[in-house]
Amino acid sequence: MSTENQGALLPAMMDLARQAGDILLGHFGKVHIEYKSVADLVTAADRESEAFLVARIREQFPSHDLVAEEGSRSETGSPYRWYIDPLDGTTNFAHGLPLFAVSLGVEHRGRMIAGVVYNPVMNELFAAAEGQGATLNGKAIHVSQTPELLASLLATGFPTQKRHSNPNIHFYHCLTMRTHGVRRLGSAALDLCFVACGRFEAFWEFNLKPWDTAAGSLILREAGGRITDMMGGEFHLDGPEVLGSNGKVHQELQDLFAEIFAGKVPELPSAQDYSRLRAQSQGR
Ligand code: IPD
Ligand code: CA
Ligand code: CA
Repeated sequence: MSTENQGALLPAMMDLARQAGDILLGHFGKVHIEYKSVADLVTAADRESEAFLVARIREQFPSHDLVAEEGSRSETGSPYRWYIDPLDGTTNFAHGLPLFAVSLGVEHRGRMIAGVVYNPVMNELFAAAEGQGATLNGKAIHVSQTPELLASLLATGFPTQKRHSNPNIHFYHCLTMRTHGVRRLGSAALDLCFVACGRFEAFWEFNLKPWDTAAGSLILREAGGRITDMMGGEFHLDGPEVLGSNGKVHQELQDLFAEIFAGKVPELPSAQDYSRLRAQSQGR
């Protein structure tokens, strides 16, 4: 694909995301849940959206590679690679909660060059092309200017697999005490876009997959934000950590995370502490 043709890539991605979003809307509210594991859900909508996207991408961009969450792969060594999450926020979708999105990211020789995240219920289409800024429904977006954690609203997420070994509850507790609050929306792609457009100051999560973050990471960078691992190192799509922010609160977060990684966490009251406090408050 020539540089000239790369200009046609983003409009094509936006079109595909909108059409896949319509497929999701067609299923919304009438979902039959299936289980990949005990809390990892999948629905016919995930599969239909993926089948549609993969067929259309193979038609329109036959030489491109792709990797999609529900198992589709084309791996021929092409310099172009699509990361496809046909439905990010499946648990929300399955419970009728209107916070979910289609996420499409395209990489060229290992660098993200275009990304689109579409929430069909809110009719919000986030998009970015490398070096050209980020937009929401065609209007430029920018990260917030909030300079400190104390005045920040953050977001995080918890995995649906290997839940017992995830340390995030400590991070959640610690950050809740130091900010306006921490939201857990259930769609990592939207979380990153919400940092990009200034609704959140930052987002972090462990063990996301490339299709969760490919599009959102570019949209956030192009909106003026910063994305790294939790210690401030380079962010990799297949890495185990993501920390995305408006840039201004990044160092503060990194410092806090370093303390938590060093085991200096504020103690969470134990179940026994709560039991004692409850008994006291009830005069027992
Ligand atoms: C999930 C969402 C969620 C995050 C999970 C992801 P899915 O993706 O992005 O916010 O916390 O870790 O797996 O399964 O709904 O596509
Ligand atoms: Ca996902
Ligand atoms: Ca998904």
